[in-house]
Amino acid sequence: MDHKLAILPDEYRTASEDELRKRIIARKKQLGEKLVILTHHYQRLEIVDFNDFVGDSYGLSEAASRQEKAEYIVFCGVRFMAEAADILSDDNKKVYLANPTAGCPMANMAGVEEVQESWDYLESVLGPGKIIPLSYINSLATLKAFCGRHGGLICTSSNASTAFDYCFAKKKKLFFFPDQYLGRNTANRKGIPKDKIVMYNPNLKNGGLDPESIERADVILWYGYCHVHTNFKPEHVADVRKKYPDVKVVVHPECREEVVNLADSVGSTSHIVKYVEKAPSGSTIAIGTELNLIYRLAITHPDKKVVNLAGKMCVVCPNMFRTSLHDLCFTLENFDESGLVKVPDDISRDAFVALERMLEVGTED
Ligand code: 13P
Ligand code: SF4
Repeated sequence: MDHKLAILPDEYRTASEDELRKRIIARKKQLGEKLVILTHHYQRLEIVDFNDFVGDSYGLSEAASRQEKAEYIVFCGVRFMAEAADILSDDNKKVYLANPTAGCPMANMAGVEEVQESWDYLESVLGPGKIIPLSYINSLATLKAFCGRHGGLICTSSNASTAFDYCFAKKKKLFFFPDQYLGRNTANRKGIPKDKIVMYNPNLKNGGLDPESIERADVILWYGYCHVHTNFKPEHVADVRKKYPDVKVVVHPECREEVVNLADSVGSTSHIVKYVEKAPSGSTIAIGTELNLIYRLAITHPDKKVVNLAGKMCVVCPNMFRTSLHDLCFTLENFDESGLVKVPDDISRDAFVALERMLEVGTED
């Protein structure tokens, strides 16, 4: 979705961290219950410090849907998360993305026009009404609306398995967007045979799928991926196990199948946080997810050794990293139009249906 870019006035760009912190604290105090700051686990430490709620995509969506008193929801995360908050919150609330340039490249990998084209092709092979669409929350609002219109739903990394159950109770085949890895890892977890999992690649004619493969498939994956999580490789797991023989490896399900298969535990960012919290003092845990969360967990659990699964490789999500104290202070003091996230009503209505089904399915973490 288009948005105007905010160029921060010099007053904010040149302010010291100390000054920004003081101003953010003062503004939070002034706005009181009118303001809620929702923060994703991948945000920088200094941003997480100011959260009213910190969580994974599911928790943040749920938090947005249950705000009663707030007039302003300020989101420190990426655009699809703020859009979900706008769709799920009452119309009288305004949602702002603290840095309006923060997007998620994976969400942009499934445009609704190409999805419609693929849907038409699959229906031309199978006939109408045979497939249910299931989209990861890391998707455009228009794709969420598509799922809502076609009887489908949204899932997050914390309820993909239960969302699969929801889909298979309704149809024999599901079409999963946009993350091929979350889709494949979930299908593996459900014990779906490999030859019944196929991938639709929008860069190829007919997605690269012949009618026979489509007829055979239980799960059709879209060709999308996260350029951060796909950096983790099986060699990283081998290296870390050699270096720390007692290590526990915990990874996010956006990681490659080969990595997930070697891990001790797999789950959402909230799952990873809880895993570290519950681990006995003195344990060593190697984490396969975004570096800012690993860094924060290492700092907040000094009695445990928390390390990056990828060793020295810098697995930072550049979009999550965009939000700085300067952005947060500017947003809180100005509520500038550039940061306002407003999904058009016709899209919001259908996307709401798909997101509400996600909340009904609940979370596994
Ligand atoms: P979570 O819902 O697990 O927080 O994941 C969001 C995300 O974007 C992971 O890359
Ligand atoms: Fe998107 Fe990957 Fe960043 Fe998550 S880590 S917001 S999936 S680019």
